[in-house]
Amino acid sequence: MSYFRKHLDLIAGYQPGEQPQDGQYIKLNTNENPYPPSPLVVETLMENLRRHRLSYYPSPLCDELREQASTVYGYPSSWILVGNGSDELLSIVFRAFLGNGDRVLYPYPTYTLYRVLALLQEAIYEEIPFEKDYSIPEKILTDQAQLKVICNPNSPTGTFIPTPIIENLLKNSCCPVVVDEAYVDFAYDNALSLLKRYPQLIILRTLSKSFSLAGIRVGFLIAQPEMIQGLLKMKDSYNVNWFSQKAATAALQDLPYMKNNVEKIKQTRQEFSQAMTKLGYEVLPSEANFVMVRKPGEGLKSEYLYLKKNWILVRYFPEWPDSLRISIGTDSNMQFLIHVLKNINKDHKDDL
Ligand SMILES: Cc1ncc(COP(=O)(O)O)c(C=O)c1O
Repeated sequence: MSYFRKHLDLIAGYQPGEQPQDGQYIKLNTNENPYPPSPLVVETLMENLRRHRLSYYPSPLCDELREQASTVYGYPSSWILVGNGSDELLSIVFRAFLGNGDRVLYPYPTYTLYRVLALLQEAIYEEIPFEKDYSIPEKILTDQAQLKVICNPNSPTGTFIPTPIIENLLKNSCCPVVVDEAYVDFAYDNALSLLKRYPQLIILRTLSKSFSLAGIRVGFLIAQPEMIQGLLKMKDSYNVNWFSQKAATAALQDLPYMKNNVEKIKQTRQEFSQAMTKLGYEVLPSEANFVMVRKPGEGLKSEYLYLKKNWILVRYFPEWPDSLRISIGTDSNMQFLIHVLKNINKDHKDDL
């Protein structure tokens, strides 16, 4: 006998990537940043800890942080909603727009959390395969639904849909359209400029990737104020804790630090992609801080296990067994990974 609503018994929850906490692995499986956050973050936390009385609730709307985000993203704070990671913001959006039998469309493969959030709402998810060149499927442009989601740059492929195509999608869609830009600081463009013209557009950002702050759980949703007002009804009163608000505000005050790390990662991405191509892998062109490498038709599970045995964690998705998604670490992380992969054929893969 189950106490749960019927549909919950039928679904598996989202399976996050492995998160060993002992620091022994080179972690290239969940697209974290290999560099630490800005020193200003730690300084600010230490300074404020002494002054603040933790017995008080934090600001419900993250006033100070919203102000700082407003200067960074170029929209007033009434256009910004802060979340406990962009995962929370995705959950708010799916709960706001989808009920039993409603439809959500998104290109596939993509972030698998979208499917789980749809299932939790008893909504119908339509996963429309990307075109062969990873451009947007025609059906996403033309079909109507209650919600459309575009992950851009896309995970796990790293590929990018140009902004004029996103605009085309908005012109053709009456429903809310989420553009999940978790990785966009590593790309050559973004969709922020479209916000003024399209009231149905919702852009998601996170501090977990380019700002090296996955541990504090802060994300932003940027949209027109009417959209923000509606979505606010779905939010817990104090969804972002006081530490995270302070840390995030400090990180956004030090943009040059973030941009410098992004440049280093892009350089490493290019060198790593070339090295993997030389090793015989197909490497998808990436605008993110990870690359998807493939051996079409071959299974790469043994490569994943071999790397793990050598203390390197990458992401293997059973849904796409001929591919691995590898986050970009430091130069020496990536050189070590290449070195290990070169040795794989010398060892007995089948013994793994
Ligand atoms: C595409 C995409 N969107 C959102 C998130 C969630 O990020 P956050 O850490 O802000 O919850 C991730 C995390 O990996 C992601 O890959």
